[in-house]
Amino acid sequence: MPSRALSFGAVSEAYERFRPGYPEELCDTVMAYAGRPVASALEIGAGTGKATRLFARRGIRITATDPDGAMLAELRKHVPGNVETVRAAFEEVRPDARHGLVCAAASLHWTDREGRWPRVAALLEPGGVFASFGGPVGLADAAVAQRVRAARAPFLESDDVPSPDGTSPSSDMQWPGTELVRSAWFTDVRQSVIERRLTMTARDYVGHLSTVSAYLALPGPQREQLFREILGVLPGTVEVDADITVHLARRRRGLI
Ligand SMILES: C[S@@+](CC[C@H](N)C(=O)[O-])C[C@H]1O[C@@H](n2cnc3c(N)ncnc32)[C@H](O)[C@@H]1O
Repeated sequence: MPSRALSFGAVSEAYERFRPGYPEELCDTVMAYAGRPVASALEIGAGTGKATRLFARRGIRITATDPDGAMLAELRKHVPGNVETVRAAFEEVRPDARHGLVCAAASLHWTDREGRWPRVAALLEPGGVFASFGGPVGLADAAVAQRVRAARAPFLESDDVPSPDGTSPSSDMQWPGTELVRSAWFTDVRQSVIERRLTMTARDYVGHLSTVSAYLALPGPQREQLFREILGVLPGTVEVDADITVHLARRRRGLI
């Protein structure tokens, strides 16, 4: 069984099919913050390219990196020609070039805390932008969510990915903003939320769960049984909250 960080490739097609993509508004938010044209970007943990395609369609040359070859193979089916792929964990990415943007979509929490910010800074032009975004997809109806928690309890206590630095969900500034504000490499740290409510069939919701690392860590037969139980307590269609929290920061000028 691979680690949770590298569990996604086994379900790369389901990942592409069931995970919601990112809205144009996200790209608008990042580009407005940049305040100048961005020629090239490096993406950390690009997966199947759900965020990559958004930025590539704006004409940005993108180096899409990910340690998982199966995820990158799926990505190549969905991105235009201005995207180059590099199979590498963030810790292995060589700082051969500097970019106007380094971004991470639902992937930064899988990277090593040690040396994270100097590594990001080494990939950015002075004044270049770092963007990290993502968020959980959760059932909007509290009663339905409670039924699913009860069905899940014998198999799995929680399907959350905990905050990497233990920041409470009620804190104003969430991770990685908490680390960015303390880092000497970055300035002008901002956090914003793009609110989203989506409707999906129960089957698609369970399809989405089949791409979540906590479920991927279960043995196959248990996972299948759990999905049958969850499907049994869901109405035919569910509403989900899929807000995207965006963190932006600018690499300080004057640092080497
Ligand atoms: C939840 S997926 C997000 C994929 C995509 N960015 C998206 O938003 O749909 C997390 C991705 O991070 C990648 N990953 C895991 N460990 C990593 C690391 N150390 N450095 C960079 N990416 C990593 C996984 O292979 C996976 O593709």
